[in-house]
Amino acid sequence: MFLFDQRRAPMLVSLSMGLAIPPLPDSSRVNSAGHLEVAGCDLMELAAEYGTPLIVYDEDQIRERFREYKRAFSVRTDDFDIIYASKAFTCIAMCQLIVQEGISLDVASGGELYTALKAWFPPENILLHGNANSRDELERAVRNEVGHVVVDSLHELKALDETAAAQGKMQKILLRITPGIEAHTHDFIQTGKLDSKFGLCLEAGVADDAVAAAMAATNLELIGLHCHIGSQIFGLEPYRKSIAVMADFAFVCAEKHSFTCQLLDVGGGLGVGYTSDDDPASIDELADIIVKSVADEFGRVGLPVPRIAVEPGRSIVANAGLTAYTIETVKTIPGVKTYVAVSGGMSDNMRPMLYGAEYVALIADRPEAEATITVTVVGKHCESGDVLIKESGLPDPRPGDLLITPCTGAYGYSMASNYNGQTRPAVVFVKEGRARTVIRRESYEDLVHLQEHLEP
Ligand SMILES: Cc1ncc(COP(=O)(O)O)c(C=O)c1O
Repeated sequence: MFLFDQRRAPMLVSLSMGLAIPPLPDSSRVNSAGHLEVAGCDLMELAAEYGTPLIVYDEDQIRERFREYKRAFSVRTDDFDIIYASKAFTCIAMCQLIVQEGISLDVASGGELYTALKAWFPPENILLHGNANSRDELERAVRNEVGHVVVDSLHELKALDETAAAQGKMQKILLRITPGIEAHTHDFIQTGKLDSKFGLCLEAGVADDAVAAAMAATNLELIGLHCHIGSQIFGLEPYRKSIAVMADFAFVCAEKHSFTCQLLDVGGGLGVGYTSDDDPASIDELADIIVKSVADEFGRVGLPVPRIAVEPGRSIVANAGLTAYTIETVKTIPGVKTYVAVSGGMSDNMRPMLYGAEYVALIADRPEAEATITVTVVGKHCESGDVLIKESGLPDPRPGDLLITPCTGAYGYSMASNYNGQTRPAVVFVKEGRARTVIRRESYEDLVHLQEHLEP
């Protein structure tokens, strides 16, 4: 199967009329030079200026996704919070953009917290996650007065209570519950089923014990419950099921422990279209099922409807971003296949290796050209598994061409590595014909700056 169906390529012409085709960013156009441009920036020119691999985000598209989330929830409820999941992509500029959009932030480590604080993110709008937070991470969270910590285990509950007590503070918390629901997505990104390293299970009274311990803790205030069933979810029914489980649990805890669930955070997970085979639900459909299910299920058990929080990551940034690579070599093994090797690979996009994720590709200076050959697009790393796209139709790919993989805005840069001494790419935000560096390309000096020489 051609991941980027070249038969659709002629439709790219209509991009100039403002008709966006997923998975390219909404503002993608073919300009008068025949080059692909995003938000008025010619990708050929950007690559010449910044080098490759280069990650390009359409800034307005990120902003528009946040606004879509806000609109979708605000027409259905007054009491909600949109909390962006930093893990999908974060940096100081991204945190600043999020503040401007009036969105809260989920951080999952001391490092993500540090980045947010460097951007002067209001700590009261930060929520700390993590299934293995260290004492140091908890101490930093409490000291910096983050709004909520989502407690993931009984050990963490005790450690956080001690930490807050040592600092003479009260820390607001949610408890992360594994509702035992299987979402239809890759096993590695399922997080809500019983056998999960995340959260507190309902079985054998584990979650119940945590509620009792949280209510008894002297320096913790239990505000509500959290669950996250997984990522890249297309069918929305598991959200309804998990909310029903959470409502039942909230009811039991209200009866047993006089616990009031003021906030129900249902996590992130909305899928996006990486290829034309993907058919994700809309943000509106997600908001609809979540708001309705919370009202219905809490009504069913006779509890007041809590404030709702969601934690989208991928659905905010995936489609807004793309990666530009230089084709370095084209190698044909007669009778077998043709490999197109590019200037990056698993060091800037782990997802194909990690989950068998699929992408499409096109060539920046002839995005409308008919495919002449089916190739395998590979990275430059010393791993045979460093394959970005198993089968891609491309128009006579040649060394020096600029190859674009759309929809790399989520879990690409945030999982990037220096494998093989590869420097991490530059990241730019484009808007109204202007590009701004938000993360500069790593230099070779950056690569060695933590390293020491052996003493003679
Ligand atoms: C707790 C939590 N919240 C939110 C997210 C964001 O999910 P997504 O990027 O699928 O929206 C994740 C991602 O795995 C997560 O673990």
